[in-house]
Amino acid sequence: MKYKAYQINEDNGSFSGSMVELDRPSVEQDHVLIKVSYSSLNYKDALAASGAKGVVRSYPFVPGIDVAGEIIETSSSNFSIGDRVLATGYKIGMAVPGGFGEIVHLPSNWVIKCPNSLNDIDAMSYGTAGITAAACVKKITDANISNDLPVLVSGATGGVGSISVGLLAKLGYEVHAITGKKDQDEVLHSMGASKIILRNEYMSEPVKPLDKGIYASAVDTVGGDILSKIVSMVNNDGVVSCCGNVAGAMFTSSVFPFILRGVQLSGIDSAESSLSLKNELWNLLSNEWSLNLKDQTKIVPIDKIDSEVNKILDGNQIGRIVIKHGE
Ligand SMILES: NC(=O)c1ccc[n+]([C@@H]2O[C@H](COP(=O)([O-])OP(=O)(O)OC[C@H]3O[C@@H](n4cnc5c(N)ncnc54)[C@H](OP(=O)(O)O)[C@@H]3O)[C@@H](O)[C@H]2O)c1
Repeated sequence: MKYKAYQINEDNGSFSGSMVELDRPSVEQDHVLIKVSYSSLNYKDALAASGAKGVVRSYPFVPGIDVAGEIIETSSSNFSIGDRVLATGYKIGMAVPGGFGEIVHLPSNWVIKCPNSLNDIDAMSYGTAGITAAACVKKITDANISNDLPVLVSGATGGVGSISVGLLAKLGYEVHAITGKKDQDEVLHSMGASKIILRNEYMSEPVKPLDKGIYASAVDTVGGDILSKIVSMVNNDGVVSCCGNVAGAMFTSSVFPFILRGVQLSGIDSAESSLSLKNELWNLLSNEWSLNLKDQTKIVPIDKIDSEVNKILDGNQIGRIVIKHGE
């Protein structure tokens, strides 16, 4: 039996995607087959689709680090046919064909049951971006950071950034949002930001070894010099959750934020985090941390995602793209 997938092919070093039909895999021991209803588009998926080095080992390949759907076959006693499930990260969409195919074959210990209060579209509106944002925010709440000073979020209109803005605002923090987009104030305010800071203006003064500590904490989704500046501006005992590198993989810092203010730099790796942490984060997102993401989510059929991939690579995506399989 065949299934449809959006596959990336390599031809002499150039990469392009197209819809293909692939053979349905047979189920290995302790694996499940999932009929995917929705996936989502994350920055890593766009890198996989563009052939960026270090993401996918070999092509042709079906990307998609996020999966929402239903079990159609299982060799694991933890699941039954018909269970609604979610899977994110691990090697999905990197070494194991991912959610851009309408069937995925995954180890059962990468899969969780979808919380009842989330339908598949809601779940993929969060996707990896959502659990990454929740993990970043949880570092801040776990450190009992008070809301006396604002919390800063970079890459604020992006997937992880926009959900971080929403979560922090919901939890009672004043959120200041750094963005490169001049015309998105209204969108960012509606997400929960109280102050919008243009990226160029934020970076107009050179980074200092220790700047005024005007932020209680921060979620940085971009890395590079922006992270350097953020670290220098976080007040005593604040947390900087660091998860992304769209602005650069390298950053510099003096030791002063750490030894004079006790600032903590907290790294986030949502892909490889334990299933129990993923369950905890999904639980938060489907209960007390739940957000209405409808206005910042676009649903796109799988065969129409080329332009969305380009947009995310150019840094022009806003909010979340949910990918729909089937008619
Ligand atoms: N560590 C983890 O577990 C984990 C999980 C998920 C994602 N990530 C990483 O987090 C980052 C964001 O992912 P995403 O899926 O949210 O991507 P996204 O939707 O494309 O958001 C990235 C945002 O960063 C800003 N940006 C783009 N180019 C920039 C540049 N050159 N300099 C500064 N800012 C720039 C843009 O927002 P503005 O225009 O509003 O500034 C953009 O919308 C990526 O690096 C991704 O790999 C890490």
